[in-house]
Amino acid sequence: MQNNITTTLKKLFYLWRRSQFPVKQPIKISRIDNLIIFLVCILISIISSYKLLLISPLNPADIFSWLLTFTEILFSSGILILVSKKENPTISSRQIFLIITLLLAVQATKLAFASNISPLSMIIPPALIISQGMGSITALAWVSIASFSWPDPAVAINNNIFFILLVCASVVSLLGGRIRSRAQLLQLSIFVPIGSFFSQWILIGKDKISLINKQDFVLTNGDVFSDSLLLAIVMLFTILFIPIFESIFGLLTKARLLELADKEKPLIRRLSLEAPGTFEHTLLICGLAEEATRMIGGDIDLIKTGALYHDVGKLHAPNWFIENQDGSKNPHDEIDDPIRSAEVLQAHVDEGLKYARKNRLPKPISNFIPEHQGTLKMGYFFYKAKERNIKISENDFRYNGPIPQSRETAILMLADGCEAALRAMNINASDKEALETISKIIYSRQKDGQLEDSNLSKGEIFLIKRAFLNVWKRIRHRRIQYPTSKNNTFS
Ligand SMILES: [Fe+2]
Ligand SMILES: [Fe+2]
Repeated sequence: MQNNITTTLKKLFYLWRRSQFPVKQPIKISRIDNLIIFLVCILISIISSYKLLLISPLNPADIFSWLLTFTEILFSSGILILVSKKENPTISSRQIFLIITLLLAVQATKLAFASNISPLSMIIPPALIISQGMGSITALAWVSIASFSWPDPAVAINNNIFFILLVCASVVSLLGGRIRSRAQLLQLSIFVPIGSFFSQWILIGKDKISLINKQDFVLTNGDVFSDSLLLAIVMLFTILFIPIFESIFGLLTKARLLELADKEKPLIRRLSLEAPGTFEHTLLICGLAEEATRMIGGDIDLIKTGALYHDVGKLHAPNWFIENQDGSKNPHDEIDDPIRSAEVLQAHVDEGLKYARKNRLPKPISNFIPEHQGTLKMGYFFYKAKERNIKISENDFRYNGPIPQSRETAILMLADGCEAALRAMNINASDKEALETISKIIYSRQKDGQLEDSNLSKGEIFLIKRAFLNVWKRIRHRRIQYPTSKNNTFS
C-alpha cells in the first residue's frame, strides 16, 4: 500500500517536473516592447469592459462589475502571454505582439459587428494563424479568452453557436499545430466550414437558411449558410496571408519548415556542389538526429531542417574541412599555425550565421549553427599549440557558444560528435563496441557541461544512445555486400 503511494507520488512529481519543461528562463524582452505589449493589453481590457460604464444612472455595483471585468481581461491577457512563452521559450516580442493584436482586433470587431458577423468567422481564422505559428496550446488559450469575453453585453450569442464555435476553434487549434502542408491547410479551411454548416443546421435549425434571397447575404448573423460561407472565405484569405505573417512576425510553421528542408533550396544546393563531403555528413546527421528526436518525442521537422543548415558556414572555405579534402593537401598543415586553424574552425559558425541572415532563416533554425558546436574544445589544435609551448589559454581553442539551449540542438551536437566515429567504424564491429563508442562521445560532452542548458534527462540521453545505435545498424546493413548469383538476373 505504502509502496503504491510512493510510486504514485513519484509519478506525480515526475509529471509535474515534465510540465515545468523547459525550466530555463524564456527569452528576454526589452522594456519598450514590454510597455507596448502592456498598453495593448490595457486597450483590450478597456474595449472589452467600457460598455459596462455606459449604464445610467451608474451604481457602485456597476463600477465594481466594470472593475472586475477589466481586471479579468487584463489578467487573462497576461496568462495568455505566459502560456505562449511557456510553449515557445524562444518566442519574440513581435510574436507576442501578434497574439495580443489579434485579440485586440477580435474584441474591436465584436464591438463593431457582433450583431452582423458570426463569431465563427471572427475567432476561428486567428486561431489558425496562432496554432500554425505558435502551437496548439497557445491557440487554445487564445480561443478561450477570445470566446468568453464579449465587449458588448447587449449582444447575446446563441448557446448552440457558442458550442459550435468552441468545438470548431478547438479542432482548428489542435490540427493547426500539426498540419504539415499547405494542402492540408486548404482541406481544413474547407472541411471546418462544412462541419460548422451541418452542425448549425442540426442544432439551430434549417429554417434559418437563406441561400440567395438576401441582400446582406454574407453578413447575416445566425444565417446558417452565410455564416459558413463567410467562415470559408475568411479562412481561405487567412491561408493566403499566412506566408506574409511568417515573414513579418518570424513565425515558423510546419509548412515553412518543410519548405526550408527542400534540398533544392539554393544554399543546400550550393553545399552539395561546393562542399560535397559536408553535405554527406549533413545527410547522415539528419538520419541520426531524426531517429533520436523521434525516440524522445521532440520536434522532428525542426531538427531535420536545423541539421540541414548546421554546417552551411563551411561554404566559406570548404577545403579547410577534412570531409571535403578528398586526399588533397590539408591547408592546416600548410599554414602550420594552430591559432589560425582554430580561427578557421570558429569562422564556420560565424559565417554560417551570416548565411542564415542573408537567406532569412528563422531564428529557431539559425540557433542550430552556433549551438551544435557549443563551447566545445578544438582538441587537436589545442594540443598541437601546447606541444609547441605557445602561450595560450584553453578558451582560445573553444568555440564561442552558446551551449545547446534546447533538446533538439543538443541532439544535433551529439549526432555531430558521433557521426564521424560511426562512419569510420569497422564494418565487423559489434553492437556493443558501437554503443561504447557512442557512449564515450556523449559522456565527454556531458562532462564538459555542454548539455547543461538543454534539459535532456538521463533517460532521454539513454534513448538517444539507443537511437544512434539503431542508425549505425542500418548503416552497417547497407554496407554489407549481398552475395550475387550468376543466374539471379531478376532482382
Ligand atoms: Fe560544425
Ligand atoms: Fe557538423
